[in-house]
Amino acid sequence: MTTSRAQWSSRLGFVLAAAGSAIGLGNLWKFPYITLENHGGAFVLVYLAAIAVVGAPIMAAEIILGRKSQLSPVGAFGLLARGRPGGARWRAVGYLGVLAGFVILSYYSVVAGWTIRYIVMAASGRLGELAHHPEALQGFFGAFLASPGEQVLCHSLFMAATVGVVYFGVGRGIERTARVLMPLLFAILFALVVYSIPTPGFGRAVVFLFRPSFAELTAGGVLEALGHSFFTLSLGMGAMLTYGSYMRRQDSIPHATLTICVLDTLIAIMACLIMYSIIFSFDLEVSKSSTILFTTIPVVFFKLPGGAIVSGLFYLLVAFAALTSTISLLEVVSSYTIDELGWGRRRASLTMGFAIWVFGVFSALSLGSVGSLSRINLIGRESTTGVFGTLDYLASNWFLPVGGLLIALFAGWVLTGRECRDELEGGHGGLGWSYGVWRFLIRFASPAAVGAIIVSVILGAEYQ
Ligand code: PFF
Repeated sequence: MTTSRAQWSSRLGFVLAAAGSAIGLGNLWKFPYITLENHGGAFVLVYLAAIAVVGAPIMAAEIILGRKSQLSPVGAFGLLARGRPGGARWRAVGYLGVLAGFVILSYYSVVAGWTIRYIVMAASGRLGELAHHPEALQGFFGAFLASPGEQVLCHSLFMAATVGVVYFGVGRGIERTARVLMPLLFAILFALVVYSIPTPGFGRAVVFLFRPSFAELTAGGVLEALGHSFFTLSLGMGAMLTYGSYMRRQDSIPHATLTICVLDTLIAIMACLIMYSIIFSFDLEVSKSSTILFTTIPVVFFKLPGGAIVSGLFYLLVAFAALTSTISLLEVVSSYTIDELGWGRRRASLTMGFAIWVFGVFSALSLGSVGSLSRINLIGRESTTGVFGTLDYLASNWFLPVGGLLIALFAGWVLTGRECRDELEGGHGGLGWSYGVWRFLIRFASPAAVGAIIVSVILGAEYQ
């Protein structure tokens, strides 16, 4: 075990960085549209249950593995599995995580890059002009997707920002960025919620989100909620494991896990309140397309006072949230080359960032060939269009659930109860009965639920 490993400077530093990884396009973009598609209320309840029963226990497990081993995923499994059932084969879980990080970042950065285009358009006044003519905005968005030059440029800028942060390391790069961006993100989001409260659609938005109607819940919806809990909490690919490896021994894993899960959920709900309030205010017919963030939201912002400023702030918020997620994806890949191949941090971030950028260019270019906008489902289960959709399908349906299942099995059945308890209680104090609850969830409930997702994917379940 190394003693010179970089560390977060405080408990808050870890929480902000990890919440930064969790809060991203999954919260601001995907959750609002899948909740809309799944009729709100009951879906939200299932999602909350998925976070509590599957997400939170697996997050604690990942952090345990990281802090205990002081290594990134491949090394962590190698070290912790030594001399136990399965032995070195567990390293495959680490490799799967590195591969998932590589693949997810390559397309995530393309979507994140769109926010740059929208921030520039909001600032120049062009977004306002387009938003007054919804068809013009649709047309613009379609042309933007089909423009190789613009797609590659935005993707390149976002990757450059990501590499720029990871290059400076855990303290000066990742933690410092999270310390600045996360409070800003909370402030902007809070301001936008306040802005949406007086709108006529706010009451309907609250009812839609919090009044469950179980008749409208489908089996596909339940599985979608479960699958999304992995994506939104950055689980199943070692991001939390890697961040956990920089956590100080005197900090509490249960507290941090709880805080991150609560923040992530709150932000997702707040994003829904903001978007639904304005959509319901104008009784808009919302298409099922996942592109509402870029085609519907600007239209509604500009129907309200201060649309130019509000929309600019909004896309800035999405960009910040996405950046704190992309840096965690690159950190998983880079830390593998640092810990296992002995590379320096600069070489790791630049080389891996470049490789992912090249891979992402294929996703960026594949958008032009997608054709009809309504067929695009960028981060979702049915998405199989082009390079972009195929990668996302693989990552969301296979890599993360399989990785999550194996992490739960490792923590629940390979590590001893004593080892887990020591890690969980280190920096926390006695856990009492809540340790028993965690142990039960990680050994039985989480694997059963994740197993159900995987089986349903294998059987090709219908999702709607
Ligand atoms: N949690 C991020 C989001 O909700 O947008 C996405 C993500 C980031 C997934 C980092 C996985 C990961 F390792």
